[in-house]
Amino acid sequence: MNLTELNKIATAMVAPGKGILAADESSGTIKKRFDAIGVESTEANRRDYREMLFRSKEAMNQYISGVILYDETIWQDAKDGTPLVKLIEQSGAIPGIKVDEGTQALPMCPGETVTVGLDKLAERLKKYYERGARFAKWRAVIDIGHGIPSMTAIGVNAHALARYAALCQAAQIVPIVEPEVLMDGDHDIDRCYEVTSRVLNKTFQELRVQRVALEGMVLKPNMAIPGKKSPKQASVEEVAEKTIRLLKACVPAAVPGIAFLSGGQSDEEATAHLNAMHKLGPLPWGLTFSYGRALQAAPQKAWSGRPENVAAGQAAFSHRARMNGLASRGEWQSSLEKKAA
Ligand code: 13P
Repeated sequence: MNLTELNKIATAMVAPGKGILAADESSGTIKKRFDAIGVESTEANRRDYREMLFRSKEAMNQYISGVILYDETIWQDAKDGTPLVKLIEQSGAIPGIKVDEGTQALPMCPGETVTVGLDKLAERLKKYYERGARFAKWRAVIDIGHGIPSMTAIGVNAHALARYAALCQAAQIVPIVEPEVLMDGDHDIDRCYEVTSRVLNKTFQELRVQRVALEGMVLKPNMAIPGKKSPKQASVEEVAEKTIRLLKACVPAAVPGIAFLSGGQSDEEATAHLNAMHKLGPLPWGLTFSYGRALQAAPQKAWSGRPENVAAGQAAFSHRARMNGLASRGEWQSSLEKKAA
């Protein structure tokens, strides 16, 4: 393992003004997104859609540091035969790959899951590296509900995240460590804070046990945020203040960067929260976005599967990328959204 090189990549992934595009929807998830815009989820349509994103010059050249791909996409070529990975590299962004194989029910723990995919991971990582991937992603899912999460679910997921991270570093790939505490329930922000704190502490404990070099990884956490069905919603300032307090308490400064998931927040909320956190600096790590839905909902709608809408889809993507790029420097204002509309 060359830690200097891993650290260089991790640092580039969270460079000021830039963030990560999570375009690694599994076949099931992208079908759901396509259903919503009336597009059939064929291999060609998935390719055309992602090619549209990766050819968005403004977004890719200026605001996107890296792209997380799904296995199908990393092997796909653009219409003109150029590998999609090459399009990403040509824009100056770093290609990455989702390597977990989704969740399975956790025995004896009703309602809870464990993320799987460690078997043969070492061999898969080798092939992904040869194809150009320089970072990877593994997502653990923790749900908040009556009597959950259990210590069992937190423990097995933290263990798997650390196993994955160690295998990545041995393969000279930067691991994005993503323990996602879902915002689906009716819990308030303080319950989210408490659960996320337990999850992060356990995750870093496992990372240490398994000798993962913190300097060569990126953390992808949720924000401290109330559940979507909570009667007690929180202001942008409260989310920012509690998230920064939580991360400062749980994430060592040796970690080069933190890149948030959007998790079901609206596009503008996700941007406003990141922006507000940068008003609370200086911060010990790079802090940016690694959004899926909050970057892609607008371009998906604008595109709607029609070749004549490609320019509109790219404009919508570039706008969201620019807004989040500004937020990653604390330079975003809501008036910039209205001007564009
Ligand atoms: P969202 O931003 O849509 O939550 O997706 C990010 C991601 O990669 C989840 O694993």
